[in-house]
Amino acid sequence: MTTVRKIRKAVLPVAGLGTRFLPATKAVPKEMLTVVDKPVVQYVVEEAMAAGIEHFVFVTGRNKGVIEDHFDIQTELEATLRERGRTAELAVLEDMLPQAGATSFTRQQAPLGLGHAVWCARDIVGDEPFALLLPDMVMRDTVGCLSGMVDLYEKVGGNIVAVAECDPEQAHRYGIVGKGEALDGGFRITEMVEKPPKGTAPSNYYINGRYILQPEIFNILSSQERGAGNEIQVTDAMLKLADRQAFSAYPFGGETYDCGSKEGFILANVAFALSRDDIRPLVADGLRKLIADG
Ligand code: UTP
Repeated sequence: MTTVRKIRKAVLPVAGLGTRFLPATKAVPKEMLTVVDKPVVQYVVEEAMAAGIEHFVFVTGRNKGVIEDHFDIQTELEATLRERGRTAELAVLEDMLPQAGATSFTRQQAPLGLGHAVWCARDIVGDEPFALLLPDMVMRDTVGCLSGMVDLYEKVGGNIVAVAECDPEQAHRYGIVGKGEALDGGFRITEMVEKPPKGTAPSNYYINGRYILQPEIFNILSSQERGAGNEIQVTDAMLKLADRQAFSAYPFGGETYDCGSKEGFILANVAFALSRDDIRPLVADGLRKLIADG
């Protein structure tokens, strides 16, 4: 086993505009849209907690104060629940709270791109490898995606990118990786291409929103170079880092839902509802009827 530095911190960039989800995201951040009964961002924080993350760095923007409130104690609400003997609801609120002092919030003053949002976390992360989780990508599996990545990272070190398989016909819509040497629990990445023109993708493995990155990425991002959409792109910085450091892929076996898109968000709601014993019967019945009625 390679000796590697532990992944203690996770960066969650939540400063995007969420234009694909307007008008819902005019005043409510898209990361606070609800899948069944939890905001999208909470699924991602729970995945990170399960992977042993000790500190959560939220890169926030305008209108995002509600995310900070969500991960804080609500004294009045909790007192009322206690008075009314609502112990189950209280336990839910207590379990989801990160430890005191385990969250940091920094502002991305303008949404200049994901790479810029990551760069805004540089002082809080410091000189150590970290996890980057896109909070609008929600994963469903028995083993959390980040936990699987950490296992691979502990064996091979370097930088890890989670990938999932897409329909090869759709590969031009994603960031795609090339598949190299097989590893125990993953494979070496030979190349990374953002939205390859149709028919040119090196594989059908797309980057699905989870990364373990070495801190040298911050230096590269500090050049503030603009890429696609005139935004500072994290993929461009990873490509530069890949000239000097290894990148490996962790193929995630579960489902990935892009909750920043309407279709992904609706599918996530259906999938998570059907996986819940308390609501499955009614939801399944209702869905069957809707489909039968066309
Ligand atoms: P998206 O690519 O989904 O961008 O960001 P977006 O602006 O939020 O959404 P659309 O495309 O306009 O609908 C992926 C993640 O990166 C964050 C977003 O909040 C989201 O969680 N992000 C993106 C930032 O924090 N800052 C940025 O400048 C861009």
